[in-house]
Amino acid sequence: MNESHFINQTTCTKCELCIIVCPAMIPEKTTDHKIAFRKDRTSICIRCGHCMAMCESKSIAIEGISYETNFRELPAASVDHQHLMDFLMTRRSVRIFQNKPVSRELVDRILDIISTAPFGVSPDNIEITVITNKSLIEQAVPEMSKMYMQLGKVIKTPVLGWFIRRSMSKETTNTLMNFIVPHIEHGHYTNAGGVDDIARNAPALFLFHAPKEAEEHTVDAHICLTYALMAAHSLGLGATAIGLIGPAINQSKPLRAMFQIPAGNEVVESMILGYPKLKFKHAIIRPRKKVSYLS
Ligand SMILES: Cc1cc2nc3c(=O)[nH]c(=O)nc-3n(C[C@H](O)[C@H](O)[C@H](O)COP(=O)(O)O)c2cc1C
Ligand code: SF4
Ligand code: SF4
Repeated sequence: MNESHFINQTTCTKCELCIIVCPAMIPEKTTDHKIAFRKDRTSICIRCGHCMAMCESKSIAIEGISYETNFRELPAASVDHQHLMDFLMTRRSVRIFQNKPVSRELVDRILDIISTAPFGVSPDNIEITVITNKSLIEQAVPEMSKMYMQLGKVIKTPVLGWFIRRSMSKETTNTLMNFIVPHIEHGHYTNAGGVDDIARNAPALFLFHAPKEAEEHTVDAHICLTYALMAAHSLGLGATAIGLIGPAINQSKPLRAMFQIPAGNEVVESMILGYPKLKFKHAIIRPRKKVSYLS
């Protein structure tokens, strides 16, 4: 087989499920009643694997995806709504950690959960750097602090500040002016006396990054982060999304070098990780989002 998409005509039962399930309408029924991939459409395949997952007889082969490596039996049990609700109600952002490293085995289990996440265009756009060397994180924090202190000084100045604000999206400007700057003005992120209110003395850090031009990578990175937060909680670990770390790394050569971020990649999000020191005593009920029902 030297085609990127192939159907074994001997084993194919012509159930047509691959045709129905493919979001890109690539498999088709041919005039001679075979099921085949349309060669003029295989280039838009997003490699979601749905056709292969649907095919009972495992008749489909797609370049880079194999039944041996990329598929397993469907697990029988599934989490019901109440279990999921209870699980999510017990998750909290954890910012206070025990002084205990996170093992490679637990990191790998989080990575396995992340690999189940949906993606916008390509399953391969997101790269993850996992730092379990606490002293590396500790070395980075003063550099991040320096950036936020400089930003605090210039962001409201009429010329330089105006240019910086103008170069950002409205969303980023608002986050900066309505959240980060007030925090800086209230004495945050100074790293004075070694206080770390950026990475929160975490023993581990995940960085979600991608080539700047990669399709849908911002959303994909946030979904990966969300899965990672849930995975951490399922393993008895605590985690928090840290929006402050990515922008600091992106604009700092020393930080990019320290974390070995490939040239051309931007860090979209980060997650601190460790063993929680404290236990929350109550579950928080937050109101539903603003919802419009169109029935
Ligand atoms: C995109 C994003 C960025 C965040 N950035 C930070 C941060 O820089 N520092 C921090 O301490 N918490 C950060 N958080 C955590 C939020 O403060 C936290 O999720 C929120 O307070 C709700 O608490 P909960 O996660 O326990 O429900 C961030 C969360 C998200 C989703
Ligand atoms: S992998 Fe997904 S997009 Fe590609 S042919 Fe199969 S179902 Fe269609
Ligand atoms: S799902 Fe499998 S068996 Fe069914 S038509 Fe497609 S290739 Fe053939």
